[in-house]
Amino acid sequence: MQIGACNPVAPGPGQVQIRVSHCGICGTDLHIFLGHMDHRVRMPQVIGHEMSGVIESAGENAAGWRPGDRVTVRPLDACGECPACRAGHGHICMKLKFIGIDVPGALQTLWTVPAHTLHHLPPNLSLEQSALIEPIAVACHDVRLGEVKPGEFAVVQGGGPIGLLVALVAKSEGARVLVTEVNPFRLQLARNLGLDAVNPLETDLVARVEEETGGAGADVVFEVSGAPAAAEMMTRLARTRGRIVVVAIFAQPAKVDLFRFFWRELRLCGARVYEPEDFDKAIALAAAGRIPLEPIISKVIPLDGLQGAFDEIERGGEVMKILVRCSG
Ligand SMILES: NC(=O)c1ccc[n+]([C@@H]2O[C@H](COP(=O)([O-])OP(=O)(O)OC[C@H]3O[C@@H](n4cnc5c(N)ncnc54)[C@H](O)[C@@H]3O)[C@@H](O)[C@H]2O)c1
Ligand SMILES: [Zn+2]
Ligand SMILES: [Zn+2]
Repeated sequence: MQIGACNPVAPGPGQVQIRVSHCGICGTDLHIFLGHMDHRVRMPQVIGHEMSGVIESAGENAAGWRPGDRVTVRPLDACGECPACRAGHGHICMKLKFIGIDVPGALQTLWTVPAHTLHHLPPNLSLEQSALIEPIAVACHDVRLGEVKPGEFAVVQGGGPIGLLVALVAKSEGARVLVTEVNPFRLQLARNLGLDAVNPLETDLVARVEEETGGAGADVVFEVSGAPAAAEMMTRLARTRGRIVVVAIFAQPAKVDLFRFFWRELRLCGARVYEPEDFDKAIALAAAGRIPLEPIISKVIPLDGLQGAFDEIERGGEVMKILVRCSG
């Protein structure tokens, strides 16, 4: 990894240049840092995609965006022509460019992006808090696809940043939520956020869910851990005709009990990134104070502290979300 000067790109037609304020470090960034995505990422590359900032300048035809506008970026650039795009699924375009993986990202001071990726930030959200909008939008998408309804019982497997946000968004929709997490620091943080949370290595999870649901099982299970053991567990937790939403990225095929799908008429749904309405929802929830943001931000570091931050996350240190200050 290298930190140094890079050449700002002047915004062309339909583009804006943003002075990046804060950028969160995501699990994907760690994978890139560790070389796990060398097959996809063309080096050298500027990474980062969970950000907030202020427009510095706008190119021609930038859809009314103006210098000074406070924004966050939905870091997806779809081709607009493939079968997925034509079906209205541009967020999972078959030639999707993920900005910050496939093209330069937000871990730089001046960042040029297509104007169609922008969302306005409301004045009552700080730029620091707003760097969490992207992962909250992931959670909004997951909860929407999981069709969570008030009063339902949801299990969220994995209490990392995404799992916690899925749990908080589901709770804000009126669901009762149980988080499972094996890391003691993260388990405690979930509890500090007012969530019910258990360690599946210490608690009989199936018994606990049955007890909470009068023997029925969970209405919806979110798999957000990526752990093979959790993939095996998910089918044991869902009620008859319950839903299972796979959010985690499994690099290897996992063992899943298909018999339970037949036996309980379960439904399995994948959920990948977000659509524009999920960003709108994330911004609205955050601005209304419906999601506690401060406890999720473990620390804010300068750009030149990035190496140390990656090392700490890799070591499994006591961190949830680390934000990088990219300017100011
Ligand atoms: N669907 C998407 O578009 C999307 C977007 C962002 C992240 N992701 C994926 O979602 C997953 C979660 O993201 P994150 O940033 O929170 O990752 P993370 O690795 O920080 O969190 C995963 C958590 O699961 C916990 N865990 C491990 N084994 C467990 C088990 N058996 N039971 C319960 N918990 C267990 C870990 O201790 C960890 O805290 C990752 O796989 C990530 O790649 C998907
Ligand atoms: Zn991310
Ligand atoms: Zn496409």
